[in-house]
Amino acid sequence: MISVTCVAPVNIALIKYWGKRHEDLILPVNDSISMTLSTDDLCAKTTVTASETFEQNRMWLNGDEVPFEESSRLQRCLKEVHRLALKNGNQKVPPSWKIHIASVNNFPTAAGLASSAAGYACLVYSLSRLYNIPLNEELTTVARQGSGSACRSLYGGFVQWHRGALDNGIDSVAKPIASSTHWPNMHVLILVVNDERKKTGSTKGMQQTVKTSQLIKHRVEKVVPERITQLREAIANHDFQTFAEITMKDSNQFHAVALDTYPPCVYMNDVSHRIVSFVHDYNEIMGSYHAAYTFDAGPNACLYVLEENVPSLLNAVQKVFPSDIMDSAAYLRGLAVPKLDSNPKIEASQKIKIESLDSHAKNAFRYIIHTKVGEGPRELSADNSLLFNGLPLDHKG
Ligand code: DP6
Repeated sequence: MISVTCVAPVNIALIKYWGKRHEDLILPVNDSISMTLSTDDLCAKTTVTASETFEQNRMWLNGDEVPFEESSRLQRCLKEVHRLALKNGNQKVPPSWKIHIASVNNFPTAAGLASSAAGYACLVYSLSRLYNIPLNEELTTVARQGSGSACRSLYGGFVQWHRGALDNGIDSVAKPIASSTHWPNMHVLILVVNDERKKTGSTKGMQQTVKTSQLIKHRVEKVVPERITQLREAIANHDFQTFAEITMKDSNQFHAVALDTYPPCVYMNDVSHRIVSFVHDYNEIMGSYHAAYTFDAGPNACLYVLEENVPSLLNAVQKVFPSDIMDSAAYLRGLAVPKLDSNPKIEASQKIKIESLDSHAKNAFRYIIHTKVGEGPRELSADNSLLFNGLPLDHKG
């Protein structure tokens, strides 16, 4: 019995992937760029065990067994890993052995954060360790076939997923742009919004967009290629002003395209729109961009902010979006935030203007996660295993 346990990060797109040119191979209509978040605060953890004695492939997700053989994306990833293992010829484990997989997220699925990216990246990375396959561009094409955005979670820092031009997808790969140490003071506040609405999932939503939206053509042909060049430059130069503007504009355009879909895909809610106005008001008070929002296929906001500006931003967020449990550890998760008084950057006149911003109804957020740019997946020691003799710890019967 051979076992491997790994963690992999969540990534949040700055320039969004939305729309496929091939459904099964998961080939996108445009390039995208993301930032990888620290695994200390958000990650997927996966154990893969292979044994000659296992009779079938099995998988447990957050403790519950899920039907392995029915998931074509899972099957495709495993098939691709086996192909690379054979090609590589340097195997510890024969591909004929069946595998058991257990995977968990260290954040509640209720947070509505893209768990599939971290999950598939972790699965593919763990399999690559099991079968001794190097982390390279080709491995990103495997993660991509689990969930498109997963290919970007195989690297830390800032990552570009290239659309590629070939029909077989071998050039649709993720490549690192800058490592996690390049812009180490790039932090994120994730505002987890209370929302119970049932939304169209990303896979189906983007299918309908490609079928029905006319706006997406302009986005893909004109807007994204220009933004990719500008954002790469902004990242290289640590230029937060350009970074913030492109990030916010691209989030807005992605949601405009989602609304241009017929029937429309509505992901942001009233609180999300309040956050957008708040960030613009806040930046105006501060005299330049101090925060940038982005929203994925749900109502939660990710606010990019430089470390030195976190106390001031959080103070303003809590003024405009008050909560009954504001100071509890369950409300403010992740990295600690220093006291505002220790931040000399905010002037008295700015403080007064922030105090005078209108407050929203109480308890709009479930909680806030403070995190930062982080590294790619890594292997953990055997004592972190989620499987014991091939079964989850709490497995019954
Ligand atoms: C809005 O990667 O979840 O988060 O490839 O169908 O699995 P599939 O979709 P998925 O879509 C992510 C969409 C997004 C934008 C992004 O992460 O780039």
